[in-house]
Amino acid sequence: MAKSTLSFVCQNCGAAYNRWQGKCDSCGEWNTLAEEDTTGSVPVSIRSKRKGRTFALESLSGKTQDAPRLSSGMAELDRVTGGGFVRGSVLLVGGDPGIGKSTLLTQATSMMARAGHRAVYISGEEAVAQVRLRAERLGLADAPVQLASETSVEDIVATLSEGAVPRLIVIDSIQTMWTDTVESAPGTVTQVRASAQALIRFAKKTGAAIILVGHVTKDGQIAGPRVVEHMVDAVLSFEGEGSQQFRILRSVKNRFGATDEIGVFEMTGLGLREVTNPSELFLSERELGSPGTAVFAGIEGTRPVLVELQALVAPTSLGTPRRAVVGWDPSRLSMVLAVLEAHCGVKLSGHDVYLNVAGGLRIQEPAADLAAAAALVSSLVNAPLPTDAVYFGEISLSGAIRPVAQTPARLKEALKLGFARAILPESARGESGGDSGLTLNSVGNLTTLVAEIA
Ligand code: TYD
Ligand code: MG
Repeated sequence: MAKSTLSFVCQNCGAAYNRWQGKCDSCGEWNTLAEEDTTGSVPVSIRSKRKGRTFALESLSGKTQDAPRLSSGMAELDRVTGGGFVRGSVLLVGGDPGIGKSTLLTQATSMMARAGHRAVYISGEEAVAQVRLRAERLGLADAPVQLASETSVEDIVATLSEGAVPRLIVIDSIQTMWTDTVESAPGTVTQVRASAQALIRFAKKTGAAIILVGHVTKDGQIAGPRVVEHMVDAVLSFEGEGSQQFRILRSVKNRFGATDEIGVFEMTGLGLREVTNPSELFLSERELGSPGTAVFAGIEGTRPVLVELQALVAPTSLGTPRRAVVGWDPSRLSMVLAVLEAHCGVKLSGHDVYLNVAGGLRIQEPAADLAAAAALVSSLVNAPLPTDAVYFGEISLSGAIRPVAQTPARLKEALKLGFARAILPESARGESGGDSGLTLNSVGNLTTLVAEIA
């Protein structure tokens, strides 16, 4: 019997301590330490005796087969994974409870099974009947998916080792899995890590692609996904505002493809519907001609996406005015406000400022600066912007409008959606080739833009 070792493990990042403490030194979170039995998975008696085995070293220039990809049958999912599931790879899909992870993966396994591949769905959270009910609702009850409600990793590995190697295995969720090799309770970091390790080993050995589902709660208290992120090949995050129908699947880490690629879905009564043209969706609820809105021509991953920025600037009744932003970086908003004050004579210190990205999209590009500034000024002076114009460009601290990447793709998308004008950085004009089909209004400085709106 191995001596049991108790330690205090941070349920957020997995760091272990000998004594309890209020704050984790490793990740800085408070109250995340829990006592766990971290006894190793290999018995002490055989741990040290084994002599190393020799293995062949290979040359870097050797021949490799192309990472064999398998399409999921859902174009938006394939886009995010970088062209389909890679054989022997393990993917983590994280997201808030109720966002639609089980729905997405039920659809993906069904599509794979219908295409003739062995696809297995293991649910540790729901009974077989519940999973069946969901499949029925999705109109997928006839798909030859192999289904089980199981939580023991050893049993799962033993069962799946029989017969043809499954091409896709969904484990819903990794937090419910447990393995005999470690003593701590299911759901703890030690268990989640050991279970994930065992499943990753199985994937590498057999060539099956495995998708692990991971819940993330708002306060990050639940054990798991953070520590698993380092172990898996790709991490996808499934996001969306609870009140809205749109769901965005974003690649956060991908050993076999680009990150920051997004897939857009709509949650309907019949499951998730792929949205092939997100711009249309994000602009569908536009209120034409209202002050404080500007359309930003952005790029998400490899795809241009047009989205509306909405600003509200109103006189404040508070000593310190409010600044609130949804879907964009608050520090970029502060910077744009500071540049407007310092260089363009726009006085905002007596105003509350709200900025919202329509449709629940989260923008990370600095190229949104110009559209944000236009929306803010438009709201302040209560003058609507032209409805047929898109905006993009980065604002520097001096107020100059700096060029951004991929101008032609942005213009092409704007033209496709019926826009007639683009307000853009000066140097971007040459890049566009001159035949974009749009009227190009280049601005060199934010002052020019402000003068045009006000
Ligand atoms: P689910 O996939 O169970 O979420 P998760 O696995 O991430 O916890 O989806 C939960 C929500 O999705 C639930 O509130 C109901 C809704 N839903 C639909 O709107 N339409 C559907 O066809 C399905 C299956 C679910
Ligand atoms: Mg679920």
